[in-house]
Amino acid sequence: MLKIESVNKVFNKNTLDSHLSLNNLNLTISEGEFVTIIGGNGAGKSTLFNVISGTLPCDSGTIKLDGQDITYMPEYKRASYIGRIFQDPMKGTAPNLTVGENLIIAYMRSVKKNILKMPSKKEKNYIKDHLAALNLGLEDRINTKIGLLSGGQRQAVTLVMATLVKPKLLLLDEHTASLDPISAESVLKLTDKIVHENNITTLMITHNISSALMLGTRTIMMDSGNIVIDIEGHEREGLSVQDVLQKFNKVKNKEFDDDNVLL
Ligand SMILES: Nc1ncnc2c1ncn2[C@@H]1O[C@H](COP(=O)(O)OP(=O)(O)OP(=O)(O)O)[C@@H](O)[C@H]1O
Ligand SMILES: [Mg+2]
Repeated sequence: MLKIESVNKVFNKNTLDSHLSLNNLNLTISEGEFVTIIGGNGAGKSTLFNVISGTLPCDSGTIKLDGQDITYMPEYKRASYIGRIFQDPMKGTAPNLTVGENLIIAYMRSVKKNILKMPSKKEKNYIKDHLAALNLGLEDRINTKIGLLSGGQRQAVTLVMATLVKPKLLLLDEHTASLDPISAESVLKLTDKIVHENNITTLMITHNISSALMLGTRTIMMDSGNIVIDIEGHEREGLSVQDVLQKFNKVKNKEFDDDNVLL
């Protein structure tokens, strides 16, 4: 479903601040895979999402989604295939519009209809049913301005917005990181439910190693713009948080053993 080949992204090219954020990165993800991504601050995780969704152009390499080369496709065009949720619950929604209006805009955009056109009754019911399926009672808050919802409620609505029409790819960038532990747990459960029920190809960035191992089918670790660990199946099932931390330390130590880093 997603094929990333030899992608490089350099920030502040040809300056003293030049920084290689994605370093010849290769990643292939099959349809229906749910991949969790871990890695230290500055490892390049969000940059990877930015080049996949077209927020940032990559400097070289190719990105293919469902067989189509999207390397140079503008972000707004990719947005109808790629759902993305950020850490900040305020991002990705229009705070002064109601829950219902936000969902309608998301729906119309996904089916490439004019967002100024009134949705049909059938479409309205379709949207309401998806909201009701969250079991959070949000179908009764359809006329509430979305900015007035709590962070957890808002991330739950954003999840529905991103998946109302099945995206080819769902990108979750620490989407529970700013929530309290109970809300985070419930949004993670919802994520798992929605992803599984719809068999959505998903990439989820998290700093919570235990969630990274518990959810999804495969876990990758990024470091210095590259994928340094890629585990799935039996190997992943038997792994504890401690094992992952050890692997991470090994990678880090190796980095400092490297002459290039020391020099
Ligand atoms: N727009 C930008 N301009 C300049 N440098 C950037 C930009 N975006 C990211 N970087 C740099 O690229 C590197 C990777 O950043 P990125 O945001 O991808 O890290 P991350 O793995 O998502 O980290 P975190 O876990 O802290 O979110 C960092 O060194 C960062 O400073
Ligand atoms: Mg990030």
